[in-house]
Amino acid sequence: MSPQKPSILVTGGAGYIGSHTVLALKQAGYDVVILDNLVYGHRELVEQVLQVELVVGDTNDRPLLDELFKTRNFAAVMHFSAYAYVGESVTDPAKYYRNNVVGTLTLLEAMLAASIHKFVFSSTCATYGVPEVVPIPEDHPQDPINPYGATKLMVERILADFDVAYNLKSVRFRYFNAAGANPDGLLGEDHNPETHLIPLILLTALGKRESISIFGTDYPTPDGTCIRDYIHVNDLADAHVLGLEYLLEGGDSEVFNLGNGNGFSVREVIAAAESVTGLSIPVQECDRRPGDPPVLIGSSEKARKILGWRSQYPAIQDIVTHAWQWHQKRHK
Ligand SMILES: NC(=O)c1ccc[n+]([C@@H]2O[C@H](COP(=O)([O-])OP(=O)(O)OC[C@H]3O[C@@H](n4cnc5c(N)ncnc54)[C@H](O)[C@@H]3O)[C@@H](O)[C@H]2O)c1
Repeated sequence: MSPQKPSILVTGGAGYIGSHTVLALKQAGYDVVILDNLVYGHRELVEQVLQVELVVGDTNDRPLLDELFKTRNFAAVMHFSAYAYVGESVTDPAKYYRNNVVGTLTLLEAMLAASIHKFVFSSTCATYGVPEVVPIPEDHPQDPINPYGATKLMVERILADFDVAYNLKSVRFRYFNAAGANPDGLLGEDHNPETHLIPLILLTALGKRESISIFGTDYPTPDGTCIRDYIHVNDLADAHVLGLEYLLEGGDSEVFNLGNGNGFSVREVIAAAESVTGLSIPVQECDRRPGDPPVLIGSSEKARKILGWRSQYPAIQDIVTHAWQWHQKRHK
């Protein structure tokens, strides 16, 4: 019999990327406990699909964290919980600094008090701001252009300092655009409100929205629309298992981009969705949004080299197909 794998606490495990990662951890044999305040998470997916212990609580609740760490023996914490609406972070930055920075600091202090020294963190390409080069490497300057990106950069800095001072080892993953759904149709993306391109296109295909807005058609790109790097959520989940194992095997703190390496324009994504759904999707051409760079593509060479990570689903057709299967089921 193979030895029992350790217990892992996953914050935000009832959310989109967290839930896919919990499934991957479970399939890899880990014992998983989810901490989620269910502000955006989905209890029914935890109960019906993931079937792991769910602690309904907040990362800002230090007594709850102390109790949790006292009664359970976690080898590491994976931290997905955060608020992630860029626009709202501009209009209500206090909410973002409190949840994403103070909440994370509270969690880290509780971990250290309980002698837990391994941490996997969801950072973002939004920490780079407007790129000077693409594909963006990890050592690209970080200069976020909104409070959401700033909160994630602050946590990255806290983690670097906590490594030096307290020997807290972390893997910081800077994701590009998470997309797609579990290929078996068990899990998928269900943000409310939804702001991500692929679900918005598919909700339009399902008749839940009138049209899909294209913000800017005069960018210096081949078809004039913005190009983004979409990474399949199962590829993200796989990278998290590898990142965790890297830390459990004694790896030093590291930062990795997680992207597809290929960019797709808004029009290309809409065309892929029309081909996958067989439906014509109405579009509305709008002005550019302030602060949208024309092209955002990440280099994930480092994750490939150090973690041995490979994207299983780099094709936009697969990403959209899996998302479509999920949306049809979710919105029947
Ligand atoms: N979705 C993307 O494309 C993307 C890209 C880059 C980075 N990220 C980061 O990845 C992480 C997960 O993103 P997601 O799309 O799965 O978001 P999500 O909203 O689906 O999941 C976040 C989960 O965290 C929970 N939560 C929020 N604050 C909490 C708190 N204080 N205590 C306990 N639970 C709390 C929510 O209820 C939710 O279930 C976030 O940190 C986000 O910033 C996401």
